[in-house]
Amino acid sequence: MTQKKTIISPSLLSCDFSRLADELKALEEAGLEWAHLDVMDGMFVPNITFGPPVIKSMRKESNLFFDCHLMIEQPERYIQEFVDAGADLICVHAEATNHLERVVSAIADAGVKPAVALNPATPLDEIKYLIPQLYMVLIMSVNPGFGGQKYIPFCTEKISELKSMITAQKAETLIQVDGGVTMENCRELVEAGADVLVSGSAFFKFPPYAERYKKFIETCNG
Ligand code: DX5
Ligand code: ZN
Repeated sequence: MTQKKTIISPSLLSCDFSRLADELKALEEAGLEWAHLDVMDGMFVPNITFGPPVIKSMRKESNLFFDCHLMIEQPERYIQEFVDAGADLICVHAEATNHLERVVSAIADAGVKPAVALNPATPLDEIKYLIPQLYMVLIMSVNPGFGGQKYIPFCTEKISELKSMITAQKAETLIQVDGGVTMENCRELVEAGADVLVSGSAFFKFPPYAERYKKFIETCNG
């Protein structure tokens, strides 16, 4: 069992967009430290959400750690904009760029924490040599694009394999899991090696947030 407290990063995709500032405030008051921001471009994924201007507005309202998950084609085109908007971490998809190392270095050079996301079917080999440079690897446990989907079971084995890769390299890279995380499977994911759990529908549909957060932590780490 892990000794470290699991980080819960609520995915704002499931919050009330008409009350973004209030939702951010409520998360902070509930004791959360991270917020997961899903940026979708209608190309890499079928859905469209929001981009740097909205994140910039959110930044003015919140001190939360902005965990920005970019589901966009050629993310290298927009790194500086997300940095300027106030991202604390920028996560790009390995499948969305031809020059992954270059993007990861650009994010780190801009003073922001770099992360790479892998779709469920993408092998871990894609990031093997980048692990020492990465603050976090995101294992997608649904095909990205929408909240409320069902967890894909083979991802648990993928989390364990990634944990072994990170340990073998004596790296401190965090493992994040995103998609279909619930109260029922969260403990299994942490036991497999997850450090950060993203939760959209299983979090926001069950206010008050302080209680939901407590329940997640007790279930994962208790
Ligand atoms: C899916 C997004 C997720 C999503 C998770 O493409 O990357 O962050 O909001 O939502 P749930 O927790 O409902 O699966
Ligand atoms: Zn996400």
